[in-house]
Amino acid sequence: MRDLHGRVIDYLRISLTENCNLRCIYCKPDECIEARRDPMTKREVVSMVKAMADLGVKKVRFTGGEPLLRKDITEIISEVSKIEGIDDIALTTNGIFLAEKAKELKKAGLMRVNVSLDTLEEDKYSKLTGGNLKRVIEGIEKAKLEGLYPIKLNVVLMNSYNKEEIENFVNITVEKKIDVRFIELMPMGSSVSWIEKEYLSSQEVLSRCPRLQMLEKDYASSPSILYKLPEGKGRVGIINTISNKFCDSCNRVRITSSGKLKLCLHSNKEIDLLGSLRKGENIRELLKKNILDKPEKHHLDEKQYIDKDMYKIGG
Ligand code: GTP
Ligand code: 5AD
Ligand code: SF4
Repeated sequence: MRDLHGRVIDYLRISLTENCNLRCIYCKPDECIEARRDPMTKREVVSMVKAMADLGVKKVRFTGGEPLLRKDITEIISEVSKIEGIDDIALTTNGIFLAEKAKELKKAGLMRVNVSLDTLEEDKYSKLTGGNLKRVIEGIEKAKLEGLYPIKLNVVLMNSYNKEEIENFVNITVEKKIDVRFIELMPMGSSVSWIEKEYLSSQEVLSRCPRLQMLEKDYASSPSILYKLPEGKGRVGIINTISNKFCDSCNRVRITSSGKLKLCLHSNKEIDLLGSLRKGENIRELLKKNILDKPEKHHLDEKQYIDKDMYKIGG
């Protein structure tokens, strides 16, 4: 369907859990010994996707926290893959459980994965996330082997942590058919002051790698501007929310881990979709009414930041 600004909304990002096995330095899900119970059941997730598919959503991305922590992730994917109209099912993961799960995910109907990876150095990885880099690398290899393709790496740029690794990340694309995407830190939630301090412009990538050549975008609403080394098999992307404000071609809405409809990543407004579903209300109508009213654009340039942290929204 179209919103009031004429944008076709056909992409749903749905966060399946706010639990995460990592503690990325810019995200930091609350320390918790016992994992929180996930509010949305498999049936509820599937009902929401069905209602969205009815309204024209074609692409679904599962996010988190870490979506692979959901014990029923393969069942969810399998059910969603049977929904008429859904033709792209993807997942954004930290990659730690990918090696053990890639095969069953692919069998269930998952098509592709985007993996978050901010450093190629083992010690630094464990300092930045608390995790083990070898497992992520194994996960990426296994995902490729199982045909979860194309694979995209999400590298969040941080001034004092990974500036010196930019060339190494770009060089991955010489031999591997992988997209390496550099993401500028977006101020949000409890880490705003840290994020403002660590912000590194993606211009740094282009200054360090002047041989990168710009390509056409994959699809008009993609957040990523694409480049390629002349000899590269893979591509390099830049996701720069502030200077490349792609709001006028935004095609997406989100459902947070607590079942709230979020029409713009950078707006505090949320609609209690799960609550309505549980009351037996017609969520198709609720979705229709609210999608029409999707905010025109974000206001990060005016320092209007959301209160919520990323792990509750899923990016
Ligand atoms: P593709 O389907 O492969 O194009 O993936 P994607 O870029 O939509 O998803 P991914 O989860 O890999 O997100 C990459 C980065 O883009 C994350 O940091 C997201 O937070 C950011 N991002 C995704 N959608 C939006 C958006 O609508 N607005 C903004 N500002 N950032 C977004
Ligand atoms: N700014 C930009 N990207 C972020 N991510 C998490 N927090 C932020 C932030 N504040 C990234 C993760 C993941 C993707 C979904 O969002 O690294 O790759
Ligand atoms: Fe977990 Fe993602 Fe947050 Fe890292 S950025 S701690 S992987 S939710």
